[in-house]
Amino acid sequence: MAFSAMNKSSRQISAPTRKAEVRAFSRRSRGAVKVSATASSQEKHLGFETMRDGIKVAAEESVLSPRFYTTDFDEMERMFSLDINPNLNLAELEAMLAEFKLDYNQKHFVRNETFKDAAEKIQGDARKIFIEFLERSCTAEFSGFLLYKELGRRLKTTSPVVADIFTLMSRDEARHAGFLNKAMSDFNLALDLGFLTKNRKYTFFKPKFIIYATYLSEKIGYWRYISIYRHLQRNPDNQLYPLFEYFENWCQDENRHGDFFAAVLKARPELVNDWEAKLWSRFFCLSVYITMYLNDHQRTAFYESIGLKTTEFNQHVIIETNKSTARIFPEVPDVENPAFFKQLDKMVVYNSKILEIGAMDLPAPLKTLMQLPYIERMIAGVFQCFIASPLEAGSVDIAPTQGELVY
Ligand SMILES: [Fe+2]
Ligand SMILES: [Fe+2]
Repeated sequence: MAFSAMNKSSRQISAPTRKAEVRAFSRRSRGAVKVSATASSQEKHLGFETMRDGIKVAAEESVLSPRFYTTDFDEMERMFSLDINPNLNLAELEAMLAEFKLDYNQKHFVRNETFKDAAEKIQGDARKIFIEFLERSCTAEFSGFLLYKELGRRLKTTSPVVADIFTLMSRDEARHAGFLNKAMSDFNLALDLGFLTKNRKYTFFKPKFIIYATYLSEKIGYWRYISIYRHLQRNPDNQLYPLFEYFENWCQDENRHGDFFAAVLKARPELVNDWEAKLWSRFFCLSVYITMYLNDHQRTAFYESIGLKTTEFNQHVIIETNKSTARIFPEVPDVENPAFFKQLDKMVVYNSKILEIGAMDLPAPLKTLMQLPYIERMIAGVFQCFIASPLEAGSVDIAPTQGELVY
């Protein structure tokens, strides 16, 4: 899971459920992260706040930061009920469940002794941007864990096969989040994920939006991990930290998760087959692509530290994700039209102006006033991307008379 969204309404999930999830997480990720008793003063110099020794205060949420999600679980139950939705291909879902049960990565996430030393060698600005990268990635993975775990729990009675798939996907995300949090502890700053579970806001998305958004976030996650992995295989001198060596198998988890959501979309023709579905497809693609582009360009230093060119890397990931998405979404943005990335590059400039003004030592109302023209241009930019001619896509059509799926 690696997406952020524009919808800001939120609601909390009940505390007992969340407690159970955190316990399950601890079991899956083999216990809580152990952090050295005294946080080194170095981290304080880097400007990070700690809530106690070695435990970092989570970064403040913003429009672009990873979020936790919740949904209408009753509607999800109806969505996966075979009685209501006979299009659900149970044989396909059972085959997917069997594959998840094989647990290809059961023995993959085992750390070695090189982690701690490699972290010690990363100093100065690079250290700070590494910690930020690990925190964002950990939060995004943990967000997936919470959502899938809850879905696994809630769908148990109506759709046991789907429930088991969600539970096994939450197993994968728990491993990913745990591995990243352990990596943060190499830098003497881990996250208290239990605290975060109880205290972070949950953004509410209707089930169909959860399906679009999670599909995209899994696929973009796959392309991000595999692209970083392949780049570092070609340029081993930039392999500053052993975490990236795990990305090849790791990204296959994300790919499998994405394929599951593709199967769900195929089973619900109304999610991929009318004008409304086309608009939402385009909207979610653009939200995910633009958010990543702006986020990563805000953190160019990180990508450069491992020898990647931020713009090239982002454009490659977006183009590839869009190709995967075009196989299932009915419409996708035309990202290979040169105007698209030109527009995104302009938005990067406006975004950096907004951040620059935000960091000035001036009264807040004055800063807002100064930011307004750039905010307006950002909104206009998003709108331009939205109204640009999209690409017709998708692999599923409904035969108009029978209402059956035709591939
Ligand atoms: Fe993951
Ligand atoms: Fe995933």
